[in-house]
Amino acid sequence: MCGIIAYAGPKPAAPILVSGLRTLEYRGYDSAGIGVQNGSGVITVTRALGVDQLADAVAAQDINGESAPNVGIAHTRWATHGGVTIPNAHPHTSADGRVAVVHNGIVENYMELRTELVDSGVEFTSETDSEVIAHLVSRCVEAGETLATAVRCAARRLHGASSFVATFADQPGVIVGVRLGNAGGIVVGIGDGFHLLASDVLAILPHTDRVVYLRSGEVASIEPSRVEFTDLLGEPLDRPVFKTGRSFEAAAKGEHPHFMAKEIAEQSETVSSAMRRRVDFESGTIDLPEIPYTDDEIRSIDRVIVSGMGTSLHSCMYGAQMIEALTGIPAQAENASELRYRNTALNERTLVISVTQSGETADTLAAMELASAAGSKQLVLVEAEGTQATLVADGTLYLGAGQEIGVASTKTMMCSLVVLYQLAVYLGTRRDRLAAQRASDLVSDLSRLPGLIAEMIEDGGRCEKLAKEKLVDKRHLLYLGRGALHPMAMEGALKMKELAYLHAEGYPAGEMKHGPIALISEEMPTVALAPQGALYDKMVGNIHEVKARGGEVIALATRGDEIMPGLADEVLWLPVASQWIVPMLTLVPMQQLAYHTSVALGLDPDKPRNLAKSVTVE
Ligand code: M6R
Repeated sequence: MCGIIAYAGPKPAAPILVSGLRTLEYRGYDSAGIGVQNGSGVITVTRALGVDQLADAVAAQDINGESAPNVGIAHTRWATHGGVTIPNAHPHTSADGRVAVVHNGIVENYMELRTELVDSGVEFTSETDSEVIAHLVSRCVEAGETLATAVRCAARRLHGASSFVATFADQPGVIVGVRLGNAGGIVVGIGDGFHLLASDVLAILPHTDRVVYLRSGEVASIEPSRVEFTDLLGEPLDRPVFKTGRSFEAAAKGEHPHFMAKEIAEQSETVSSAMRRRVDFESGTIDLPEIPYTDDEIRSIDRVIVSGMGTSLHSCMYGAQMIEALTGIPAQAENASELRYRNTALNERTLVISVTQSGETADTLAAMELASAAGSKQLVLVEAEGTQATLVADGTLYLGAGQEIGVASTKTMMCSLVVLYQLAVYLGTRRDRLAAQRASDLVSDLSRLPGLIAEMIEDGGRCEKLAKEKLVDKRHLLYLGRGALHPMAMEGALKMKELAYLHAEGYPAGEMKHGPIALISEEMPTVALAPQGALYDKMVGNIHEVKARGGEVIALATRGDEIMPGLADEVLWLPVASQWIVPMLTLVPMQQLAYHTSVALGLDPDKPRNLAKSVTVE
């Protein structure tokens, strides 16, 4: 949450910073701000309630950061402490305006620090926890310290996970950034005659592909022609420069009205990327060279925990079911924010698989650290290259989905299911639990997935009609599914909540009678995931129960099903597919229902209220 970018170099800083903020806006879009050194002895700060408004304000004031050298810091905010107001937008400055700071994370002891500063005469101008950092840094520079020393000194006083970047008018050309724990990363961009700091490498890529990822407790001090790394005590660190394989592609919606529509439509191609170099369709085998374990190590695993948050947790639930079914190892999905705080019996025979598209989710990272401390084996499924999650895990399985701009996860979830599918087959084979023929059948089922998804996407018009005619005036929805369709039902409900702000509940269908059935009425339609399969008859029973109570049913059923059209009010057809492929297919119409309901309600599906794509605070 919150995006930071800073620049020191020969070009006017403001345009570089504003365009960097556009790339980072997915991290939070409550407000935005920029602070540039103009050689005037103070930092010129401009703040606005959004990047577009900030860009207008910067253009109107002709702020370029045109001192020599050009230096500026900028921020896009996801509010934690204090409302969405201009005074709470970053940068925050010292009382004399000579120190400016942008911050991502939470200062857990900010009340104590604020009281201490207020007692010493400091007047606060915002309600944020972040402002204490500006005053702490200022106090140290007033005592004659350099910006780098002052930042280290302030950083040592902070509790909790934070990343922050500071600049000081009396030290022209210098910017200092620090990372404390997992509150979103700081990447240093190394250029010829310029340097950058940013929360995400994507904001750096238009300028350079040479980067250094800061680790927790590291400080980077940049100037146009100089970069220095130290620890929090000022001990110099030698940090190798890494050439990232990623290249900058300006995010474009193409012919689609929203990024989310584009990302839903891309899923048939992205699942192919998630299989590339891993699946051999000719031999019917899967190889995952990213997994560093020997056969003996894989056989020694006696428990699997699949951990993540939100949409990624729904992928974990699917993954745990499939891994247990194919490997025989007890496997469970766990919400990472719970896993990290309960006394889980983890050990070296436990395999912890984390799923996080951003690689930055604070709770998921904390659970991973717990697993590391217990000596567990660890794999991570991740989209964003080089992020903290990839540093903690023994092996990283990249999703290959490509950058997802829409805040709601669509294609990254689909790809995580595909990678978990491959992982389940791979582990089952390496443990000799899965016969070669069965593995080959599973590979062959997987080979049909891109075509089946393309078919589903083509059929999207029906979802648009249903959204406009049936869902737009509803306030509540129930989603039901069984087995591996239960997590999909939860995901369908989550998408509807996030995008259309409707109250939607996802339940295992068997649980319905134990409470949720009390909600059923014509006001609350049910989306029933009822494809052909072992649990089809049970779902038919549930649908009868909903109908008997006056509830409307939208069923997702397999083409050719002759019962469903006479039973459900509406049917969305699924192609015939195997047990572990069908759940992935159900995602497409549920994504489309949520998307079209959001659009019909006049909302922005790409930027749902209150959300951020990267949840770097717990
Ligand atoms: O980056 P992660 O996959 O770790 O993110 C976890 C959740 O915050 C995320 O899946 C969230 O629930 C989705 N954006 C929902 O669409």
